[in-house]
Amino acid sequence: MSCDNAICKFNDLYSIPGELFFKEGNGGLTTVCINNKYASAEISLHGAHVMSYTPKGEKPVLWMSGSSYFQPDKPIRGGIPVCWPWFGGHPSDKNKPSHGFARITDWHIAETDTKPNGTLLILRLTEKDIPANLREFPFEIKLEVLVGSELHVGLAIVNTGKEKMSFSAALHTYLNISDIASVAVEGLDNCKYLDTLDHIFKVQKGIITFNAETDRVYLNTQTACIIDDPGFSRRIKIAKSGSNSTVVWNPWIEKSKRMPDFGDEEYHTMLCIETTNAENDARVIAPAERHILKAIIGLEKKERG
Ligand code: BG6
Repeated sequence: MSCDNAICKFNDLYSIPGELFFKEGNGGLTTVCINNKYASAEISLHGAHVMSYTPKGEKPVLWMSGSSYFQPDKPIRGGIPVCWPWFGGHPSDKNKPSHGFARITDWHIAETDTKPNGTLLILRLTEKDIPANLREFPFEIKLEVLVGSELHVGLAIVNTGKEKMSFSAALHTYLNISDIASVAVEGLDNCKYLDTLDHIFKVQKGIITFNAETDRVYLNTQTACIIDDPGFSRRIKIAKSGSNSTVVWNPWIEKSKRMPDFGDEEYHTMLCIETTNAENDARVIAPAERHILKAIIGLEKKERG
């Protein structure tokens, strides 16, 4: 039987029987579904966006808003948005989309494969795939996603041009938690951070707990963070490489109300720990040079005493 639509063609070329297939997801967005002995996951080609990751027998590790858009021109609210080539607002043109164009562009499939430790999906984007008004330099970026007992997400950025390339970036990870008021983040004790709410540099003392809007860029840190979540009896570990900065974000009450694609009460059950190249960790790479920003997300089961 010959294929007469894109999903069928993707399945013909790239599906792995019993492990990986393509479907039309929310809003008609092409979605890669992975299910193996370790975990299940869904990844949208729109934004190379990991939308869900659930190890076998566990609650979802990633959070997704019930109010998210699933539209070609808008980012998805939840999962792991890929923010590139700028994090936050564009450095010089405030009319350009927040957090770059990678998360609102449709990516191509480069490879699918079965590995000993999980299922591999590689997606690819170049300057040819983005609208001319957003094109600033030639590039090739690939998102490598390995779905196993841990979730590995690596953004490989190659400068394919003739000039130096500057960028900032984030794997803007939304984690699913029981209750923002009862979780704590470990791993950033004594770390200097920029408090984005008052633009003052501060120093973290001890664990991070939450009782108000929180929007911080932790600087000069390569360590893993752990979300200790007593309500879900688990600890989520976010390890990383190629990153010297970590963003911690929860919008709390008022900002939640201002965001059209975020439910007013949803801030209770999400927390972003973002693996970034932000602020003084923005990067410059030479022609042909490659930088890999990587997050490794997994569960540490809490000992029951
Ligand atoms: C975080 C920023 O990384 O992303 C916040 O620190 C921002 O300031 C948040 O509000 C969400 O951004 P956006 O563009 O997805 O609404």
